[in-house]
Amino acid sequence: MGLLLLLLLLLLLLLLLLLLLLLLLLFFFFFFFFFFFFFFFFFFFFFFFFFFFKDECCCFPMWTCRLYCRVGIGFHLQIHEDGRVNGSHEPNHLSVLELFAVSQGVVGIRGVHSNRFLAMNQRGRLHAQESFTDDCKFRERFQENSYNTYSSVAHMNHRTGRQWYVALNKRGKAKMGSSPRVKSQHMSTHFLPRGGLSDVHGGLGFTVTDRRAEERAAKQAGPNANAPKRTVKYWPKYRFG
Ligand SMILES: *[C@@H]1O[C@H](CO)[C@@H](O)[C@H](O)[C@H]1NC(C)=O
Repeated sequence: MGLLLLLLLLLLLLLLLLLLLLLLLLFFFFFFFFFFFFFFFFFFFFFFFFFFFKDECCCFPMWTCRLYCRVGIGFHLQIHEDGRVNGSHEPNHLSVLELFAVSQGVVGIRGVHSNRFLAMNQRGRLHAQESFTDDCKFRERFQENSYNTYSSVAHMNHRTGRQWYVALNKRGKAKMGSSPRVKSQHMSTHFLPRGGLSDVHGGLGFTVTDRRAEERAAKQAGPNANAPKRTVKYWPKYRFG
C-alpha cells in the first residue's frame, strides 16, 4: 500500500515537473515570438519607406544639408533661383542643398529651393544651372580638419594640373575657381556639410512631403532628361557639425 502511494506521489511530481517545463517553454516561445515579431515589423517598415522614397524621387542616395564655409564671418553656400551662387551668413531656404553621389568620390550639389545644380564653367566661374551636365560634377575630398573641398571634375588647369575649387571670398561672393589664389589649403575652399535642418528660416518648411511635392511639380514641369540616374550610394563621410 505504502509503495503504491509513493509511486503515485512520484508520478504527481513528474507531472508537475512536466507542467513547469511546458510553461517555461511556452513563456520562451512567446518571448521569442514577440521579439521576432517586432524585429520583422521594423524591418519591413524600414524597407517600405526605402522603396517608397525611391519611387517618389529618383535621387534617394542623397543627403540634404548646408555647406558652411568658415571664411570671413562664416557663410553658407546658397543657390539663387536665377542661377547666381554666393554665401549668406544666416542659414536660409536658399542654402538648403542636396548632395548626391554621381560616382566614387564625385558628387552633384542641387539647390533644393531653386532646383538648380551647382556648376563651374570652363572659365572657373560658379553658377547654378537647371540641367545636370559634366560641369556640375565635383570631386569631394575630406580635409584633415573635417572640412571638405569640392573641385571641378570637368575643368582644371591642364598646364599645371591645378584643380579648380568651389570657394567663397571673405565677403561671401563666389570666387573664380581658376584664380591661382584658390587653393585647397585655404579656408575659402573648406566647406562643412551641416545636416539637422530643423533650423530652417525664411518661412519655408522643408518637410519631406513638401520636397516630394516640389519634386513632383518639377517632374510635371518638364523632367530633367540630363539628370543622371543615381545608383551610387552616398554616405556622408564627415562628422556632423
Ligand atoms: C548674394 O546675392 C544676393 C542676390 O544677388 C544678394 O542680394 C546678396 O547680398 C548676396 N550676398 C552676399 C553676402 O554677397
